[in-house]
Amino acid sequence: MMHEMDPAGAPGLRPMRWWDVEVVVGIERDVFADTAWTAGQFWSELAQANRTYVVDEDGEGVAGYAGLMAVPPTADIQTIAVASRARGRGRGRALLEHLMSVAGEAGCSEILLEVRPDNARAMAMYEEAGFEVIARRASYYGPGADGLIMRRRGK
Ligand SMILES: CC(C)(COP(=O)(O)OP(=O)(O)OC[C@H]1O[C@@H](n2cnc3c(N)ncnc32)[C@H](O)[C@@H]1OP(=O)(O)O)[C@@H](O)C(=O)NCCC(=O)NCCS
Repeated sequence: MMHEMDPAGAPGLRPMRWWDVEVVVGIERDVFADTAWTAGQFWSELAQANRTYVVDEDGEGVAGYAGLMAVPPTADIQTIAVASRARGRGRGRALLEHLMSVAGEAGCSEILLEVRPDNARAMAMYEEAGFEVIARRASYYGPGADGLIMRRRGK
């Protein structure tokens, strides 16, 4: 099947469309359980200005996805996830690097994200990409579940 416009120049990465939402929400529930976004939340995100959502496909379909809000000078990583079957093969890194380049092209000089302090895998990926923890938000993910704010400066 032909892919439509490839925003990153990398095979498999393309813009998320409304018809991807059902599959994306299925992965979302597996990955984030009780904090998973609903289809309505994804539709709302896709409808908003300043958002960039991409999916990454493998031979089985959507294997990962990510979203960015870019309002210069700050960009926010809204979400990033790779289906468990497709992890450890560079997909998370490719999604993150794509969002970082979109943020730079949009004129953003800093990127923020929130992560759970017990999510070592994601934190290692962000640290390697130049993100640093700048704050801890109490109960960000629910009662007693703090969130770490990470920031990367520069384009
Ligand atoms: C975090 C996540 C997106 C990484 O996706 P991935 O495709 O498995 O990651 P990659 O293969 O691109 O690896 C990127 C980096 O992640 C880290 N990483 C990947 N697998 C890891 C593992 N098993 N243990 C520890 N760190 C790991 C490493 O830093 C790795 O870099 P390296 O290959 O140079 O060592 C994925 O694990 C995921 O979807 N997790 C659940 C959702 C989530 O936590 N999202 C982030 C919320 S803020």
